[in-house]
Amino acid sequence: MIADTVCRRLIAAARRAQTQAYAPYSKFTVGAAALGADGIVYTGCNVENSSYGLSCCAERNAVFHAVSCGCRKFAAIAVVGDGPDPITPCGACRQVLAEFAVPAVILAGADDSYTVMTMEELLPQAFQFTVEK
Ligand code: THU
Repeated sequence: MIADTVCRRLIAAARRAQTQAYAPYSKFTVGAAALGADGIVYTGCNVENSSYGLSCCAERNAVFHAVSCGCRKFAAIAVVGDGPDPITPCGACRQVLAEFAVPAVILAGADDSYTVMTMEELLPQAFQFTVEK
């Protein structure tokens, strides 16, 4: 089980990343912070586009940020939004989190109260090839 102090630290980092969100269309800003197995926290925010389908979610950007820095193994990721309930990742992000087998997904809403979910809970029977990461 992931410690409350780790969850809080990642939520705080995700909140900072949320301030960089580019969300002029939805006005719904999201931040994410992935804790790599290397101990480094990799953040991301949602980045939207006038061609809506090109927009990318915060958690995908955080994972891609980590991979771009050479980190492919993760301990956890926190995702924060400003909704009344903890945010819940979209299907595309669930598939990306499953690709890198992120073990603990910490989800928070406006008041920073959080819930922790496993990938098996978020995306049972995810499509996967067995590859070296
Ligand atoms: N969004 C995220 O960044 N992460 C989620 O978990 C849910 C949704 C973004 C996508 C879009 O920029 C905005 O929130 C509204 O859907």
